[in-house]
Amino acid sequence: MHHERIAILDFGSQYTRLITRRLRELGAFGLVYPPSATAEEIGGADLRGVILSGGPNSVLEEGAPGIDPKIFELGVPVLGVCYGQQLMARDFGGELHRSAQREYGKATIQCDPSSLLFAGMSESQVVWMSHGDHVEKAPEGYVVTARTEGVPVAAMENKSLRRYGIQFHAEVTHTENGSALLMNFLRHCEMKLDWDAGHFIEEKVAQIQAQVGLGRVVLGLSGGVDSSVAALLLHKAIGKQLTCVFVDHGLMRKDEMKQVQGFFAPFDLSVVWVDASEEFLTKLEGITDPEQKRKIIGATFIDVFDREAGKVNADFLGQGTTYPDVIESSGIGGAVLVKSHHNVGGLPDRMKLKLVEPIRELFKDEVRKAGLALGLPAEMNQRHPFPGPGLAVRLPGAITVERVSILQNADAIFLEELRASGWYAKTSQAFAVLLPVQTVGIMGDERTFEFMCALRAVTSEDFMTADWARLPHDLLDRIAQRIVREVKGINRVVFDITSKPPATIEYE
Ligand code: XMP
Repeated sequence: MHHERIAILDFGSQYTRLITRRLRELGAFGLVYPPSATAEEIGGADLRGVILSGGPNSVLEEGAPGIDPKIFELGVPVLGVCYGQQLMARDFGGELHRSAQREYGKATIQCDPSSLLFAGMSESQVVWMSHGDHVEKAPEGYVVTARTEGVPVAAMENKSLRRYGIQFHAEVTHTENGSALLMNFLRHCEMKLDWDAGHFIEEKVAQIQAQVGLGRVVLGLSGGVDSSVAALLLHKAIGKQLTCVFVDHGLMRKDEMKQVQGFFAPFDLSVVWVDASEEFLTKLEGITDPEQKRKIIGATFIDVFDREAGKVNADFLGQGTTYPDVIESSGIGGAVLVKSHHNVGGLPDRMKLKLVEPIRELFKDEVRKAGLALGLPAEMNQRHPFPGPGLAVRLPGAITVERVSILQNADAIFLEELRASGWYAKTSQAFAVLLPVQTVGIMGDERTFEFMCALRAVTSEDFMTADWARLPHDLLDRIAQRIVREVKGINRVVFDITSKPPATIEYE
């Protein structure tokens, strides 16, 4: 028996995945279907309700995606959001107002708290609008339950048929009571609100088993949260049919491979640990141009991974792609691509591997929740992100074994002190950078002429923007003293107080 489910028909809105996310937050499982899905395809004893998403089209356009009318006869409540509401208005005889302009942004609606969706709310609500057309007149049998000055039907309902529509996006956080509205709908659907990470894992395991069958999967394990959670999910589903490949490019944090080995020791995963540091560092010799460094590392990574993966005879490539990665790669919302080679996106076509992406629909905080439920140690689960090219982007200038080692030691002290003071969890990313600049110092009676180290610590929601972390002065003092005393090769420490923008988080 499948878990109770809300079917979401995706008409192409950039917010559709946010609907599933909000439902999960409320304890409900939502499954996304293409707009062409039929009543037969989405129906079933486990179906509790249907949500029609927003979309970029106009329902009045020729060829605009429509909906199988039999879906309305499935006997479950239906909620149309934006395009979804307009579709209902069109198909049931309402009137639409066609508009060439999009209304975009916050709006205040006057709503009816005695209606089903707005129960428990006050009469005035702030909501998020993003639409061109709107419903001018609700179909017969439908009651208008919210309006704004410009939008006469901001929400409508037909209680006896259990059909509801909203013009605005309840799934976006700018809609202040959006979750409460969705909750009112879910209660009406009589959903059991017990969806959690445990259920997610169960469902995913079954899906992976169905997809992979008796095939073999190879996955690049980086030690980051995403690939680790993907690995554990795959392992739970197919055990020894999974082989992970960990590539040490010699530009990892201090003792990184040992630490990751420690994290995974209790899980009985098959991991091939590859020390390819010599290969990488040789190819990087004398290279100072940031872009060239990145290109060399990306290409070498693919070479090494390809070589190891080839030995596995895999049918599938497992990847820890998360929903934000999907958005970044597709450029939705103008996001830039930051993860090109890290995600092994460029594996040679000849490998002919099919993709398995078990956390593709999850947001970062949900990945961490799944990680906890899978038994990933909290320390691992809460790690700061680490860039694919590793310390290369924190070593402006030429990369040498010696400079890598100096940086690793300084960085380890910084992170150790942050953990000990409780500041690691309060920052989103923190690391040391070794600048290719030597400055004069005095140690004891001796003049020194050594490298300069910059400390970077930032807070950020999504790493698209970031603010420098206000670390306490005495903590900074302790870190600087320890670095200069304990790390041979550094005689000066500075703290970076630039936010992003205008600076990026990394140095290259
Ligand atoms: P920037 O420096 O662009 O970094 O402000 C934003 C976030 O992305 C990470 N980053 C990368 N991650 N491969 C990755 O996997 C890369 O090439 C890469 N470059 C930057 C960076 O650590 C920060 O979290």
